Amino acid sequence: MSFFVTTPIYYVNDVPHIGHAYTTIACDIFNRFHKLKGEETFFLTGTDEHGQKVEKASLVKNKDTQKFVDEMSQNFRDLIPFLGCEIDDFIRTTEDRHKNATQFLWNKLKENNQIYLSNYEGWYSIRDEAFYLDSELTKKENGFVAPSGAPVEWVKEESYFFKLSAWQNKLLEFYEQNKNSILPKSRYNEVLSFIKGGLKDLSISRTTFKWGIKVPEDDNHVMYVWIDALCNYITALSYPNIDNSYFKKFWPGVHIVGKDILRFHAVYWPAFLLAVDIEPPKKIFAHGWWTNEGQKISKSIGNVIDPYEIVNQYGLDQMRFFLFREVPFGNDGDFSKDAIAQRVNADLSNNFGNLIQRISSFIVKNSDSKVNKPAEFIDDDKNLLNQYDEALNNYLTNMNSYSIDKALKNIFEFLSLVNTFVDNQAPWSLKKTDPVRMEEVLYVVAILIIKSSILLLPIIPSSIKKVLSIFSLSVEEINLSKIQNFLPEIISIKKPYPIFPRIEK
Ligand code: MSP
Repeated sequence: MSFFVTTPIYYVNDVPHIGHAYTTIACDIFNRFHKLKGEETFFLTGTDEHGQKVEKASLVKNKDTQKFVDEMSQNFRDLIPFLGCEIDDFIRTTEDRHKNATQFLWNKLKENNQIYLSNYEGWYSIRDEAFYLDSELTKKENGFVAPSGAPVEWVKEESYFFKLSAWQNKLLEFYEQNKNSILPKSRYNEVLSFIKGGLKDLSISRTTFKWGIKVPEDDNHVMYVWIDALCNYITALSYPNIDNSYFKKFWPGVHIVGKDILRFHAVYWPAFLLAVDIEPPKKIFAHGWWTNEGQKISKSIGNVIDPYEIVNQYGLDQMRFFLFREVPFGNDGDFSKDAIAQRVNADLSNNFGNLIQRISSFIVKNSDSKVNKPAEFIDDDKNLLNQYDEALNNYLTNMNSYSIDKALKNIFEFLSLVNTFVDNQAPWSLKKTDPVRMEEVLYVVAILIIKSSILLLPIIPSSIKKVLSIFSLSVEEINLSKIQNFLPEIISIKKPYPIFPRIEK
């Protein structure tokens, strides 16, 4: 099995913020999860560097556009390891490999009679890099705005068009047959009703600026930035060489995107692909948007959340955990300092952290820093071990269906049961009355901490490495296929230390 996951490529008009960090971490979580299942994985991210929006930003800064995008792209590249993400490729749309792939795609569309030259007259939003219909706009004091709130301007220019209208039925057919290819379900319905509403041909070139990939054999036109951008997903798999092992192994892939760019991914992109005889993406997951303390995040309000600041203040895994435990993946969420403190303290410090701390230090003090596997498990133990198996199954189902929050809930509800087990079995009392039973209890708890930790590895990898090292294990020794039957003869404990300190308000 193989798994190809992509973030949207990020516009380099500004520095990265929490929204970018969110999508990148989501992909990292899925990538790590599939790796943990033993699959061959490919995680792609990168930067979207052409178009009017980026060009305008460089002009405002009075910088050479190429120099500007070089610098800005680096900010996105640097953020990845800082977020604890491990990627396989970082693509920039100004690279030659990408220009070649995109021009090849264009030629192929032309060869397949999918492109014609005409005139575009209508609304365009530079901020969204999108065309809009009259019916989609709202009148404000300073003119019309798009549904996103972005200003629009009237453009009238010669343009190449892609015959999107011709793909309406084929797209509907594809989505009828692939009902889970857009998640969540509500987004699937949204895309379907958009397609059913009728597709118009799409303007795919511009003549009023130059910062883009040249249209082959027509120097007056540069490509519309979205045709250029979407092609990145296959450039990275060495398109147009589709007979290479990468393309064969990894296409079609999984695109994780924000809800604002679903239409580009679920309508335009599959249509381009079908038009050049390539399979549409396997899955498109549209996630929600974060607000800051109840307010829409915007540069003009000045409430943009800087991921560096959050990580430095609360810790990396604390942030990763909060973002995916707090809000169902797919819904909008609100970022608040109280909420992150509360969530981290309740789940990571109290529930999980205390359990690790009290059991491991108890074993160090009272069981010579190790516990042996019991000859037999009594019913109480078997019950709890069975409950783990149930939690594991639910976790797998939820992670496989992109419900990270539910998968996390499965683990933390189970950890509460382990805490209750410790309270009820009271190993501290057994120490005098029944030391053999005490060791059995400690073994059961230690092994269940280990087994639960593995499930958390995709979400909070660096903390879990620390937890496992307290139990003298390394990540390489365990994976998801081994986890259910993982019962080592002996578990040795190294001196524990707090891994999830409480966040003081
Ligand atoms: N360049 C295009 C994507 C091209 S993909 C072929 C683009 N770039 S972007 O930088 O503007 O946005 C990238 C992602 O960040 C989008 O998925 C968007 O939804 C996400 N977010 C931007 N602000 C966000 C929040 N406040 N909250 C969550 N995600 C948000 O679009």
